[in-house]
Amino acid sequence: MKGSTLSGRGVEHQCVTIRRFVSGGMSMESTGSRVTIHMVASLDGFIARKDGRVDWLETSDHFDGADTMTPEVVAAFLKTIDCYVMGSRTYETAFDFEARGLGWAYGDTPTFVLTRRELRKTRDSVEFYSGDLARLVNERLKPHFRGIWFVGGGQVSGECLRLGLADEVRYSIMPVLIGDGISFFDGLDKDIALHLAEVKAYASGMVALRYEVRR
Ligand SMILES: NC(=O)c1ccc[n+]([C@@H]2O[C@H](COP(=O)([O-])OP(=O)(O)OC[C@H]3O[C@@H](n4cnc5c(N)ncnc54)[C@H](OP(=O)(O)O)[C@@H]3O)[C@@H](O)[C@H]2O)c1
Repeated sequence: MKGSTLSGRGVEHQCVTIRRFVSGGMSMESTGSRVTIHMVASLDGFIARKDGRVDWLETSDHFDGADTMTPEVVAAFLKTIDCYVMGSRTYETAFDFEARGLGWAYGDTPTFVLTRRELRKTRDSVEFYSGDLARLVNERLKPHFRGIWFVGGGQVSGECLRLGLADEVRYSIMPVLIGDGISFFDGLDKDIALHLAEVKAYASGMVALRYEVRR
């Protein structure tokens, strides 16, 4: 999270949002790895407009009686995220933010980017991967990382759920409807039963939901 700013856009905003809502969600199991999917969505379930814009993430709402947290608590929680996994389109958004001087939202935390293309990278913490997502998670990540966070986009999150890799889903809803866009989960082919584990509401009007995936 180092170097991030409150620019309020896209992936950057997602990480700011992680800071805002995580205080009550410190539920990583004491042993073993935990795979989390986290994204921020509009109330109608979109993570970006069709053209990829996320301008709607910046809202002017204010909710009285919001949950609060201290920077220390947030910092301690962020330390429990041991690696990030993302699709190439999400990476390109983050890369573009950094290129525009808005900071890299994932700090020095190892970040695995799924792609079949040759993409540019400017930092050692980023590694590209192509192929079987289950093998990446089970054989490569789980032996080395406890807190494994999938941070988008819709296609990769859908793939993660379809393959039964996710332990929990963190769904943060912004107080806005945008009518159309890229769905939180792309193309699920079956129902996924969830257990609502936690609900928090923040001053920005965002509601953070945490679900455990029922097996
Ligand atoms: N609101 C939020 O919290 C949030 C969070 C994250 C992202 N977003 C937004 O969501 C949008 C991107 O989402 P998206 O669903 O379009 O794309 P995405 O999930 O970020 O990326 C999909 C791409 O990942 C690559 N990929 C997926 N599975 C792979 C595999 N097993 N092996 C190799 N490569 C694989 C493919 O790209 P290649 O063509 O490179 O092979 C695929 O086209 C962006 O606009 C971003 O800003 C929003």
